[in-house]
Amino acid sequence: MRVLIIHGPNLALLGTREPEVYGSTTLEEINAALAALAAELGIEIDCFQSDHEGEIVETIGRARREFDAIVINPAAYTHTSVAIGDAVRACALPTVEVHLSNVMAREGFRHTSHVAPAAVGVVSGFGLDSYLLGLRAAVGHVKAANA
Ligand code: DQA
Repeated sequence: MRVLIIHGPNLALLGTREPEVYGSTTLEEINAALAALAAELGIEIDCFQSDHEGEIVETIGRARREFDAIVINPAAYTHTSVAIGDAVRACALPTVEVHLSNVMAREGFRHTSHVAPAAVGVVSGFGLDSYLLGLRAAVGHVKAANA
């Protein structure tokens, strides 16, 4: 099983970016923790980060041929990007949306997601664990669907 991990805009800055909101864990540390979990689960992952909406749309569009599921933190594009929501719907891979922070406890504009209606589910508010829980959920979903 192969799962594509997508990190959206500004997430390459994790570690130094608003640590009071996002913590001090870097993107490299998140990817390393995901790789360790993937090894434990006996699956493969590929991690991709982009600040560009079109690149994220194209990456999702290509994913269908190579992956069984997607875990995505669309970051600010969560709240603005009809295109990323459409891409998730179009590729038809089971997708889990994750957020480090609890977006529902923050500003009103963060309460809207264009991706969540196309996703299997959302994990938000647990920092690094949001990604790890999201990966476990994606793998469990694929296994249940193939059982
Ligand atoms: C975020 C929440 C978004 O609202 C924000 O724009 C981000 C990060 C999170 O992981 O908590 O960039 O997706």
